[in-house]
Amino acid sequence: MIYSADQNRYSAMEYRRAGKSGVKLSKIALGFWHNFGDVNTLDNSRKIMRFAFDKGINYFDLADNYGPSYGSAEETFGVIYEKDFKPYRDEMFIASKAGHDMWEGPFGEFNSRKHLMAGIDNSLKRMKLDYVDIFYSHRYDPETPIEETLQTLVDIVRSGKALYVGISKYPADKAEFAYKYLSDRDVHCLLYQGKYNMLSREPEEDILPECETSGVGFAAFSPLAQGLLTGKYLNGIPEDSRMAKDFFLKKADLTPEMIDKLRQFKKEADELGLSPAQYALDFVLKNKNVTTVIVGASSVKQLDELIF
Ligand SMILES: NC(=O)c1ccc[n+]([C@@H]2O[C@H](COP(=O)([O-])OP(=O)(O)OC[C@H]3O[C@@H](n4cnc5c(N)ncnc54)[C@H](OP(=O)(O)O)[C@@H]3O)[C@@H](O)[C@H]2O)c1
Repeated sequence: MIYSADQNRYSAMEYRRAGKSGVKLSKIALGFWHNFGDVNTLDNSRKIMRFAFDKGINYFDLADNYGPSYGSAEETFGVIYEKDFKPYRDEMFIASKAGHDMWEGPFGEFNSRKHLMAGIDNSLKRMKLDYVDIFYSHRYDPETPIEETLQTLVDIVRSGKALYVGISKYPADKAEFAYKYLSDRDVHCLLYQGKYNMLSREPEEDILPECETSGVGFAAFSPLAQGLLTGKYLNGIPEDSRMAKDFFLKKADLTPEMIDKLRQFKKEADELGLSPAQYALDFVLKNKNVTTVIVGASSVKQLDELIF
């Protein structure tokens, strides 16, 4: 079936400016870390992506190693993009990242020019794109000189392979250095991407205030703490859940203290007439320096609940 996007897709979604920039992103963004790999069905991934776009989501967050297997989420994106989304390219803000482990050998991870240049080229091929809207340095590398990494980001923008750049999980002092290095070369850092949710509030201390001072937007990842904050673990661990896999989200995290905390959140959510997941997203979005929350969803039903 040829995809034709919902004509009312921009009517209900809120769009927020990314720091001091010309870019407005949907307050909810779709993440491709899980649910788009070659272990997932193309049909389900396609349904989720179509639904997201139909609901006004314009930011799609990928990285080279999302899957599993590594690279396969970008490949899945490429297939769906070619089938459904090519006519909508100018309405989409597409991100990729490099810096985590991706291939064998000393060039296969971290932030050397060698790794990042190969990373962007390989991502573009997999996604079947000429350029990404934003390319992130996925993590801080304590061994590579930060200037080498940042100059590579500048050169990626100059080459037209990315329109904007961002950084993810950098310590506050390194982020500050990056914002200045980049803006001195007329390449404004568009977004800092960091973990922020009701259980992980560290960015409030320094990263978020620094974003405000530097005019950098903030994209919050894992706003549902990988599903913990949705209420789904209040009565045990559902078989098909991320925690059941006990890999990225550990069963050991579900302590009696954690369950008490989650029960309390649910009570607060009930009082506001929100589901626990909506309450968790609302909490993050209340911070005026947050541009967007990047959610994961393993079904259209889940995503539907997150768009409110
Ligand atoms: N920069 C970085 O280093 C970094 C790191 C992590 C993530 N990210 C980005 O952030 C995105 C989101 O991360 P995340 O997947 O951890 O986000 P999350 O939104 O905190 O968790 C998503 C998971 O929660 C569960 N869930 C979502 N909605 C639900 C609902 N309505 N009811 C019940 N369960 C629900 C689903 O897991 P199950 O159904 O499988 O249980 C879903 O996959 C990633 O895709 C990626 O783009 C970036």
